[in-house]
Amino acid sequence: MEINSPAQWSPDIYNKAWNFATLAHQGQFYGGAQEGQKIEYINHIGAVTMEVIWALSLSAGCDGNLAIQCALLHDVVEDTKYNYEDIKQQFGEQVANGVLALTKNEKLSGKEAQIKDSLQRIRLQPKEVWMVKLADRICNLQQPPYYWNNQKIISYQQEAGLIYDALHEANSVLATRLKNKINNYTNFLKKG
Ligand code: NI
Repeated sequence: MEINSPAQWSPDIYNKAWNFATLAHQGQFYGGAQEGQKIEYINHIGAVTMEVIWALSLSAGCDGNLAIQCALLHDVVEDTKYNYEDIKQQFGEQVANGVLALTKNEKLSGKEAQIKDSLQRIRLQPKEVWMVKLADRICNLQQPPYYWNNQKIISYQQEAGLIYDALHEANSVLATRLKNKINNYTNFLKKG
């Protein structure tokens, strides 16, 4: 593939959002693949943003700053004390709208209802926001935390299929990468 005009983006805009996300997620951890592992939450944010930057380098016609800011901030409203207004004030309305669409509505009951609602709202946003959700699930299909059982692994794989179906048109390189991660996820099922 030859890209004549890869997306432009600003390191200064990146750093402002990266520093905000680092402080916002400070003290948060998630479980690793091995028993007892605790991983700093910011690892996930860095991984998602890396996927987005990789895709930007292979895709034409994207707003790099929008994609990168939404990637760096994608879990801030869902998982930290900051809200939509805070993001809007610091990063502008377009970024805040993207982050809000990437945030589950916890008033809805059931995980499936929450993910379907979020996917509908993401689909009303620019393609850069769709790319963040594809990148998020690519990262989340790494080896699952050691305490997940097979039922949880299978339902997570099915949920990833919903994300692929809803958003794959946004970006072909991320879509292909997500498809492969979904197919390989059964390798993590525990035997016996
Ligand atoms: Ni995430």
